Amino acid sequence: MRAVVINEYGPAENLHVEERPVPEIADDEVLIENYATSINPIDWKARLGLLKPMFDWNFPVVLGWDAAGVVTKAGARVTKFKAGDKVFARPDIDKDGKRGTYAEYVAAKEDKVALKPEELSFETAAAIPLAGLTAWQVVQDRLHVKSGEKVLVQAGAGGVGLFAIQIAKYLGAYVATTASADSRDLLLHLGADEVIDYHTTKIEDVLHDYDAVFDTVDAIDAGLKVLKPSGRLVTIAGHPTAEQKKAPQDVSDWWLQPNGKQLSELGTLVAQEKIKVIIDSTFDLTTSGLQSAHKRSESRHAHGKIVIKIK
Ligand SMILES: NC(=O)c1ccc[n+]([C@@H]2O[C@H](COP(=O)([O-])OP(=O)(O)OC[C@H]3O[C@@H](n4cnc5c(N)ncnc54)[C@H](OP(=O)(O)O)[C@@H]3O)[C@@H](O)[C@H]2O)c1
Repeated sequence: MRAVVINEYGPAENLHVEERPVPEIADDEVLIENYATSINPIDWKARLGLLKPMFDWNFPVVLGWDAAGVVTKAGARVTKFKAGDKVFARPDIDKDGKRGTYAEYVAAKEDKVALKPEELSFETAAAIPLAGLTAWQVVQDRLHVKSGEKVLVQAGAGGVGLFAIQIAKYLGAYVATTASADSRDLLLHLGADEVIDYHTTKIEDVLHDYDAVFDTVDAIDAGLKVLKPSGRLVTIAGHPTAEQKKAPQDVSDWWLQPNGKQLSELGTLVAQEKIKVIIDSTFDLTTSGLQSAHKRSESRHAHGKIVIKIK
């Protein structure tokens, strides 16, 4: 199968197309013919070698952790999916680094997979799993956002932020968010109540007594300043220090847990147009396509998701 791999850690230029064997599936896995994937900042962080302490892979490594496609084979113990099902998934990060989603075929455990709603294209579905599930788990399960609460979502125009704003609005919160001026109209249109231009205004100068902060930019001290003493802060971009943990507020970090059931719920909300998927740009599964996509993500100025079309 065609896949985009790296043979050493380093710059985007290291990404290139190579022929790889189709993954063998275990009894509890499905094999997906992958029609689309998407880019997340973890991809270029992994490419640079920053995940080495967690995953010590052997090269060549296939990166990527979003998939949308058609099941071609189901393991003996799989009960929920069969060949021909249209699905999407955030597969587990494997130990050997060979099973990323920049590839024409992807293996995923059954419990990480969801049926793709018919209303969604494969490209839209591929933009959801990693960023959408992260936003869902932080806003709903970690911050426990409730109707009427005031919530700050940092980097509202990012892949995670766009989902987080809409999920918090869906739960009935008042939502402030940070972005550059050129994203203001989009974020107001998606439901944000207040958009703060982070280039000109400090959040702690304009926001007070917030119930919850979703930190996606590692600005924990600033986030703590806008919270009421009983407030909650969850970061996905840093780790609270011992000093920050002494704050009266509840401060923690979070690492996404892939979950097919939650992905299915999220897909339904997108199909019902309660949550919109914003695509920044689309590239092909080619050497130049992946290199350009990584450079776009690494610029840290993508507005929405960067999608890779495979089929
Ligand atoms: N722990 C986990 O499980 C987990 C899961 C997903 C993501 N993450 C991490 O969370 C972070 C965000 O991910 P993402 O996918 O949303 O990234 P992304 O899509 O690359 O975010 C890009 C956006 O961030 C905005 N931005 C950059 N610096 C900002 C700042 N100081 N204040 C406000 N906005 C700013 C940019 O807006 P402008 O162009 O307007 O500047 C751009 O729209 C990354 O570090 C990622 O690695 C962690």
